[in-house]
Amino acid sequence: MTKILVVDDDPNVQRLLRGTLKQEGFEVVVAGDGAEGLHLWGTETPALILLDVSLAKLDGYQVATRIRAAEGPGVHIPIIMLTAEKEVEQKVRGLRAGADDYLVKPFHQAELLARMKSLLARFSSREGVGGVRPPLGKLLAFYGAKGGVGTTTLAINAAIAFHQEHARRVALVDGVLQFGDHRVFLDLGNDRKSISDLVSAPSIDADLIKSVMVRHDAGIDLLLAPPSPEDGDLVHEAQMDQALTLLRTMYDYVVVDVEKRLGDLTLSVLDHADMIFVVMTADLSCLKNVRLVLEALGRIGYEASRVKLLLNRSNAFTGISVQAAEGALKRQFEFKITNEYRVAISAQNSGTPFSYSKPDSPLARETAQLAAEVERAFAPAAKAASRSA
Ligand SMILES: Nc1ncnc2c1ncn2[C@@H]1O[C@H](COP(=O)(O)OP(=O)(O)OP(=O)(O)O)[C@@H](O)[C@H]1O
Ligand SMILES: [Mg+2]
Repeated sequence: MTKILVVDDDPNVQRLLRGTLKQEGFEVVVAGDGAEGLHLWGTETPALILLDVSLAKLDGYQVATRIRAAEGPGVHIPIIMLTAEKEVEQKVRGLRAGADDYLVKPFHQAELLARMKSLLARFSSREGVGGVRPPLGKLLAFYGAKGGVGTTTLAINAAIAFHQEHARRVALVDGVLQFGDHRVFLDLGNDRKSISDLVSAPSIDADLIKSVMVRHDAGIDLLLAPPSPEDGDLVHEAQMDQALTLLRTMYDYVVVDVEKRLGDLTLSVLDHADMIFVVMTADLSCLKNVRLVLEALGRIGYEASRVKLLLNRSNAFTGISVQAAEGALKRQFEFKITNEYRVAISAQNSGTPFSYSKPDSPLARETAQLAAEVERAFAPAAKAASRSA
């Protein structure tokens, strides 16, 4: 069945389109805002998108622009913009952003279907519609509820586990631009290229990204933070967004060690996240911060189901038991990782992550389990994508 993605915030339009399209034998997925639309484009691999212009979070023009930037060569999903105005300017803007056609609301069912079918026919004869583009890589954000809880440790080792246990192509991004630790954890000198080498170029493309990625012996590719803190400020959210969009077309997983400050740069990472791991330990200041972070993410509009609580050093004595912590937060931890200080600290100080050098340690085994659960969580989407291909 041909899958259509409807991106519109108006429940009436959603209902109308869902009904009409289902009657015509289409499968329909609906997104209520631009960010969700972009996400479903990646996970659902629709054959065509009906895209409203005025949307929350990302408007229709931005969604179309991002999709066109992220599509691989020779790939093109047909997009029909839905606009409320007859102004030529809006239409031109839509077409320039990458739309193939537009309809002015309210439109006639017959006209909508005719335009959809002509676009589907045109693009299916050219490249088989929709599923030709492999789904976007998953972006996993590791976000520490406070400093020193093990965010970097877990981001690095999980990234390695996806490659070693599941043969995934993995990009690991050090998003802590001022004081990123990946060079220390991975024993890499300050001469290695970093994300700040991207920003001097007029535009970021796949070749440029490839030229700054650093290959690690464990088989993953790294996008490092700049070697000196003052260069961290060179990277702005638009560039971070562009870099992540491209990385998602090149890798199965993009794992990001995220800066704690909840500013524009952090949000430009979290906007991409399929899962946000909020890393914490069982102590009072973490519990307080986790509550604040969950509230803030909710206010910004992140779907609660994408946010996972990760309790690190779960069996360390802190005076607060796992049950008490879960009780205080009124929810359960999705993931728990054991406390094994010797393994963690010696891996860090020798610059060899435990998932690579000590795969049989409990710490590495539990990190591998986390990776396996994430794999399982994404499996249905991957299957759906290959079915529609
Ligand atoms: N599961 C664990 N068991 C024992 N020690 C751990 C564990 N995870 C991390 N550590 C140790 O905790 C310390 C902090 O780890 P890490 O640097 O990864 O935290 P972080 O949250 O990234 O810190 P920062 O806020 O400085 O970025 C390190 O010494 C690390 O070895
Ligand atoms: Mg860190």
